[in-house]
Amino acid sequence: MKEFHFSKLASFSGTIKILQIHTPKFVLLIASTLILVTVVIHHHTPLSTLKYGNPSCNIFEGEWIWNPNATYYTNTTCNHIHNHQNCMKFGRPDTDFLKWRWKPNDCELPIFDPFKFLELVRGKALAFVGDSVGRNHMQSLLCLLSKVERPTDVSYREGQEFQRWYYPTYNFTVAVFWTPYLVRATQAEANGTTNMGLINLYLDEYDLDWTTQIEEFDYIIISAGQWFFRPTMFYENNKLVGCFKCLKDGVKSLELSYGYGKAFQTAFRAINSSPNFKGTTYLRTFSPAHFENGIWNEGGNCVRKKPLKSSEITLDYGALWLYNAQVDKFKIAEEEGKRNGKQFRLLNTTHAMFMRPDGHPSSYGHWPKENVTSYNDCVHWCLPGPIDSWSDFLLEMLRRDD
Ligand SMILES: *[C@@H]1O[C@H](CO)[C@@H](O)[C@H](O)[C@H]1NC(C)=O
Ligand SMILES: *[C@@H]1O[C@H](CO)[C@@H](O)[C@H](O)[C@H]1NC(C)=O
Ligand SMILES: *[C@@H]1O[C@H](CO)[C@@H](O)[C@H](O)[C@H]1NC(C)=O
Ligand SMILES: *[C@@H]1O[C@H](CO)[C@@H](O)[C@H](O)[C@H]1NC(C)=O
Ligand SMILES: *[C@@H]1O[C@H](CO)[C@@H](O)[C@H](O)[C@H]1NC(C)=O
Ligand SMILES: *[C@@H]1O[C@H](CO)[C@@H](O)[C@H](O)[C@H]1NC(C)=O
Repeated sequence: MKEFHFSKLASFSGTIKILQIHTPKFVLLIASTLILVTVVIHHHTPLSTLKYGNPSCNIFEGEWIWNPNATYYTNTTCNHIHNHQNCMKFGRPDTDFLKWRWKPNDCELPIFDPFKFLELVRGKALAFVGDSVGRNHMQSLLCLLSKVERPTDVSYREGQEFQRWYYPTYNFTVAVFWTPYLVRATQAEANGTTNMGLINLYLDEYDLDWTTQIEEFDYIIISAGQWFFRPTMFYENNKLVGCFKCLKDGVKSLELSYGYGKAFQTAFRAINSSPNFKGTTYLRTFSPAHFENGIWNEGGNCVRKKPLKSSEITLDYGALWLYNAQVDKFKIAEEEGKRNGKQFRLLNTTHAMFMRPDGHPSSYGHWPKENVTSYNDCVHWCLPGPIDSWSDFLLEMLRRDD
């Protein structure tokens, strides 16, 4: 059977709900949702100001603080912004969401320095492996680097799923591999019982589109997310073992975290068993969606204009399941990697991004009258926007490993 590529389908079906318990005007929405942020208002303690570069400082624990110096690129200085994330083009009226930077509790996280980054990756190659949120990160990185150099397109396949960019001055390559499930996947039914399509996932089989290519790379940034919320059939050892939301008689119902964890396990196995890959793998942890007042296809939206504080969020079931499932498999892979010369690093951005319900395109990913599958996008991130911080984290991690 021909492998099915999912690029034409809407890539999100997860949802987030923020329980607003300090103002009565928000209606508290109940269940059916998979992700939940609980908003609890506590007293906010001021942040301590410490030095850059303390290697024991956990850069992922912190707050978003006001940064009037931002932004560092625009839709005119960068031509890699995907239309659907070009929020300013489609008239997003507020700009405060651009003006925050991440401040770890116990140190500073320097703003991305493109010159420093390119020096560190000179002669190297970096691959983004995942779905459209991974591509969103790649485009953010290309934009941040655009101040220094414009890359040449060296893609060897058509379309945006397998692009490749080359920075001649630095002999640096960036590639993106489209693999929303990380493992082999085929389409089972176009619509399925839930009319969202039904997908066969072969949880123990490699997606050869990327696993055969990794030897060429020094860094892999791997991620996966919203596609696992779709109805899926789970196969292991080529046998149907159960499904998530397929609503079929006689098929055992399993949690989506079952498939999610196994997919990461298989992806890490592909990396750890590659004889020639000697690079570093970054797991960029689950990127939460922020639909409020309805799920993605039922009028849910994300209209907040500023970040939440860490005291206002608690990672709750859906997101926590997924986060834990991937981090559990990551820790096992990390140990195994130590035995055969492969490094694993956690790009632990879930918590920071939970605090950014204001960073999504919402309805500013298209013209107001346009007929699009998902009218309000609360999954991807505006460019420029808070996703640019992922490269701040990445550079700091590269610097610490240098
Ligand atoms: C990831 O970061 C969060 C805080 O932002 C922290 O609570 C969690 O322990 C970190 N996870 C790991 C595995 O280090
Ligand atoms: C803004 O830029 C100035 C000058 O480079 C710097 O001194 C200041 O710390 C920056 N502010 C923030 C919030 O990063
Ligand atoms: C960039 O954004 C501005 C609004 O800030 C918009 O008018 C313009 O069309 C956009 N340009 C491109 C190339 O996206
Ligand atoms: C460029 O980098 C690659 C490794 O990514 C290396 O094999 C090659 O020799 C480098 N070329 C030059 C001209 O430095
Ligand atoms: C599946 O969906 C497509 C597009 O929405 C529609 O044209 C087609 O009729 C549907 N097929 C079935 C069997 O429902
Ligand atoms: C929007 O597009 C869908 C399919 O792409 C079509 O079925 C529907 O009729 C369109 N709606 C409008 C208002 O044009």
